[in-house]
Amino acid sequence: MTSVTFAASRDEKSAAALVLFVGEGGQFTAGAEAVDKAGGGQLGRAMKAANFTGKKGKVLEVLAPAGVSASRVLLAGIGEGAKADARTFEDLGGEIAAKVQTTDAELAADFTGIADLAVGTDVAAAHFAHGVDLRNWRFDTYRTKLKDEQKGKLAKLTLIGAAASAKPLAERLAAVAAGVAFAKELITEPGNIIYPESFVARVKAKVEPLGVKVTVLDEKELAKLGAGSMLGVAQGSVRPARLLAMDWNGTGDEKAVPVALVGKGVTFDTGGISLKPGAGMEDMKWDMGGAGAVAGMMVALAGRKAKARVVGVCGLVENMPDGNAQRPGDIVTSMSGQTVEVLNTDAEGRLVLNDCFTWTQRQYKPKVMLDFATLTGAIIISLAHHYAGVFSNSDALWGKIESSGKAVNDLVWRQPLSEKGGHYDQLIDSPVADMKNLGPREGGSITAAQFLQRFVDDGVEWAHVDIAGAVWRPKAGALHDKGATGFGVRLVDKLISDHFEG
Ligand code: BES
Ligand code: MN
Ligand code: ZN
Repeated sequence: MTSVTFAASRDEKSAAALVLFVGEGGQFTAGAEAVDKAGGGQLGRAMKAANFTGKKGKVLEVLAPAGVSASRVLLAGIGEGAKADARTFEDLGGEIAAKVQTTDAELAADFTGIADLAVGTDVAAAHFAHGVDLRNWRFDTYRTKLKDEQKGKLAKLTLIGAAASAKPLAERLAAVAAGVAFAKELITEPGNIIYPESFVARVKAKVEPLGVKVTVLDEKELAKLGAGSMLGVAQGSVRPARLLAMDWNGTGDEKAVPVALVGKGVTFDTGGISLKPGAGMEDMKWDMGGAGAVAGMMVALAGRKAKARVVGVCGLVENMPDGNAQRPGDIVTSMSGQTVEVLNTDAEGRLVLNDCFTWTQRQYKPKVMLDFATLTGAIIISLAHHYAGVFSNSDALWGKIESSGKAVNDLVWRQPLSEKGGHYDQLIDSPVADMKNLGPREGGSITAAQFLQRFVDDGVEWAHVDIAGAVWRPKAGALHDKGATGFGVRLVDKLISDHFEG
């Protein structure tokens, strides 16, 4: 986490890396102008030499600048001021954090005299800090031989000349960033460290101090409830399954109807007896990305004391091949009473989620339920790593999810879904059970969603978000390094804030 402080004016003795803002056409802010003057026009000359004109998103680094004590100046282009919005500043914060995180312990950004933006200076400053915070996350837990110049150092950010009203917003966004960071941490940890029991322990330790009520079901309790579908997946592993439920109620009303979030938490997916090929199998440590996102969402919502009731439910199992593993062709009975012919043990996510759906709906009677799951490789074929795919029985809920995603750059694209009994739904009918867990090769993400829909109660507005691609990206973005993205946390925070908070 990057700690954020506020200052009225620039500290002349500070060695912190200094961010100054430049508008389209090389327009200095008052803060930038002052530094340029103190250095005898060095910044202006550097801009000329680098063809830097203040275009939105461009950053020019000037090392050991003349006339100031800063280690470096980062000239940050905001483009046309009237168009510079929260995202402009968030992305700049992210890019700058990536540049300086191994060189500087302190960063200062001077908003003095930055005028006529699309948002207030307070919003600009808070979102700049948010971008820094999000991008400054690192995972060095197991790198014991890092050289000093490879270590993450950036720990402090000073916002200069930003209105004091930026503070509450910055604090709220810091809670959200903590949720994103926690999701990334869980997702990046390997399968020998994060398995159902250790996932529960780590999440419990994180969310209980924030006021989240935690319930954990072990295998005995799950068996008693008839969770034969989820337990069938777990039976090949020496790591016992867990169902983890987190309840955040910020409404003050004990009986408030919650929004339900359900996450796929397959802590490692070998495919089971329908074993996956070896190459790239290590990626399946992030097959708990849905559960990790849901845990991160709870951290964000409880951390900022959202005035809503939200429950997060994670279905946690490890999918392994073993003498006791389930076989292709096995028929299992789910908690709902519906039977499933397991034609492919690698289509395990839907087998875990359906029992979680049934339990969640019986326990909490939600009217709105979202699930997040790294469910299908097919969604990566469709959308690559850029968008997550959304399947929903409600146009209204989809609309809310789409606009929330757009606002925070967690992008989503709607996918088709038939009604129960409709065209795509029929593709998972089985001759020997109520349904099979495998459709044809074509439309693999759709039949997976159809399967889940069979466990959604009538009257529940539901959306399934397939994050198999979005959870982990091979290339760095403005707000994340290559690897875990924390996708979904900011989207759900925004969704709750815009539509479910009183
Ligand atoms: N966890 C995988 C989906 C996945 C694949 C996520 C690649 C991220 C990257 C899921 O459990 C799975 O194996 N799905 C199968 C389903 C198939 C057997 C119907 C798939 O997508 O191949
Ligand atoms: Mn699988
Ligand atoms: Zn899986």
